[in-house]
Amino acid sequence: MIINVVRNYCELSKTAADVVQSVIINKPNAVLGLPTGSTPIGMYNELIRMYRERNIDFSEVTTFNLDEYYGMSYENEKSYHYYMQRNFFSHININPSNINIPNGIAKDIEKECIAYDMKIKECGGIDLLILGIGHNGHIGFNEPSNEMIMNTHLTNLAEETVMANARFFKGHDESPEKAITMGLEGIMSSRQIMLLVNGKDKTAAVRRLLTRDKVSPEFPASFLHVHNNVMVVINEDAIEEFNLIHKHIS
Ligand code: PGA
Repeated sequence: MIINVVRNYCELSKTAADVVQSVIINKPNAVLGLPTGSTPIGMYNELIRMYRERNIDFSEVTTFNLDEYYGMSYENEKSYHYYMQRNFFSHININPSNINIPNGIAKDIEKECIAYDMKIKECGGIDLLILGIGHNGHIGFNEPSNEMIMNTHLTNLAEETVMANARFFKGHDESPEKAITMGLEGIMSSRQIMLLVNGKDKTAAVRRLLTRDKVSPEFPASFLHVHNNVMVVINEDAIEEFNLIHKHIS
């Protein structure tokens, strides 16, 4: 695991965008795994800037998003479909048919999940997966539990996650309780993973990730320790309360 500590959110966003750019330069038809939430917004803005300056070309790129809220259609402004269009896809030259996001209103959710995993395989797997981390260590919406679910699946969101997401809704009561998420296999079979950590509120999660090696479904991000190509990009803010400023920890 490579730890890259950066000074601020701007640097985090640029670092992340540079990694995406180098993956696409090496492989123009790269397959990307993409997150939503607050953390990657700066990276998406940076990638849009690169695209406008003709420094990156998404025309052959394929994307798979990590998750979508259950029961939410792509027209819903709170959906991750909508988020991705507004914050990224509508500003770049990606082919719409290369965009994949779980369908939160699929009639047959199980079938939807199986088809999603199948499509990832058919596309040759994910070259670069970008992740955020939840306060409770979730990755995608794989929440702490007694066991990790390997395939894409419908999941109940942890109360902590419902609370954290309430800021995007009219409070806790409207914050969704279920989502479709890529499972552990989709995440771990990605050839390269980049975890983005921003903000003081992530201190406890990142401390737990970096100081405890025990791999456990009670802290899903701990599985990243057994992947051989993970870069964690951390804004100093998120680690300032404890002494872990190593540029590279293996
Ligand atoms: P955030 O969410 O980027 O909004 O902090 C990350 C996550 O919960 O995975």
